[in-house]
Amino acid sequence: MSSVRPLFVVAGIGNGTGTGAATARLFAKSGYRVALISRGPEHLQKLAAELNQAGGEVATFPLKDYTPASIKSAFASLKSHWPTSPLRVALFNAAYGIWKPFLEVTEDELRESIDTNIMAAFAFARAALLEITKLDLEAPNEGGVAGDARKRGTLIFTGATAAIRGNVTTSAFAAGKFGVRALSQSLAKEFGKQNIHVAHSIIDGNIMTDRTKSRRNDPTWEANQDARLHPDAIAKSYMHLVKQDSSAWTWEIDLRPAHETW
Ligand SMILES: NC(=O)c1ccc[n+]([C@@H]2O[C@H](COP(=O)([O-])OP(=O)(O)OC[C@H]3O[C@@H](n4cnc5c(N)ncnc54)[C@H](OP(=O)(O)O)[C@@H]3O)[C@@H](O)[C@H]2O)c1
Repeated sequence: MSSVRPLFVVAGIGNGTGTGAATARLFAKSGYRVALISRGPEHLQKLAAELNQAGGEVATFPLKDYTPASIKSAFASLKSHWPTSPLRVALFNAAYGIWKPFLEVTEDELRESIDTNIMAAFAFARAALLEITKLDLEAPNEGGVAGDARKRGTLIFTGATAAIRGNVTTSAFAAGKFGVRALSQSLAKEFGKQNIHVAHSIIDGNIMTDRTKSRRNDPTWEANQDARLHPDAIAKSYMHLVKQDSSAWTWEIDLRPAHETW
């Protein structure tokens, strides 16, 4: 039994009210060390302080952008911060959303979508897998966290409806999200053989975050648990993926509220 806590890393925290932060909260509470990667140092500090005060072991790794070089450097920093902690779970949650009629999409917006959604996902996956492939199978009680003797680690990508269905304003966004989905499927097949679980999650509806709340400005929607995705509920599904038995792994999960039209 190892006394060192396993490590969870997430890229994409936003302002701390969405999926990235909710998943960090759940993994911190469940005994993981948590590495937070995001472009917003203030939101990062605030979330880390909240989680550390609640008994978590959380550190922040701010980056100025999601270029491969910045992601590589964030991983180097987290490795030197926790040199002995095995990286067991990695979540790529960052995204650049752009919804516009095709003829209005600029080259810069398309490039931003490809850079943040695809290039960054490749760089994050590479950095995470370089660590996870070095690990032995999980120990039964790794730093107090129940391990799985058939698994070395889990890599999850947060997707969207646009990962499987283009629509009238999603040409640039869907290109990025389709790309992440393709990457995750390729990795699931390649790294499953090394007992590394790669999963993709299609979030098929609006997540209740500060951003969606102010955009929709609809208290009825906010109050209706059957109409919107709660970030904590998505986090629970991610934990479920991490705990799945290796004889029945999910590559792709789709999550939507009960009353979603789809
Ligand atoms: N919100 C939804 O309704 C919805 C629906 C379907 C799928 N998704 C997907 O779910 C994932 C998580 O999104 P989330 O909505 O739950 O929020 P989140 O976890 O807080 O993540 C927000 C992400 O958006 C980035 N971002 C870019 N511009 C931003 C801005 N102006 N304000 C705040 N964040 C900005 C953030 O990067 P930094 O951390 O570097 O700031 C962060 O990576 C994303 O991959 C998204 O595509 C969301």
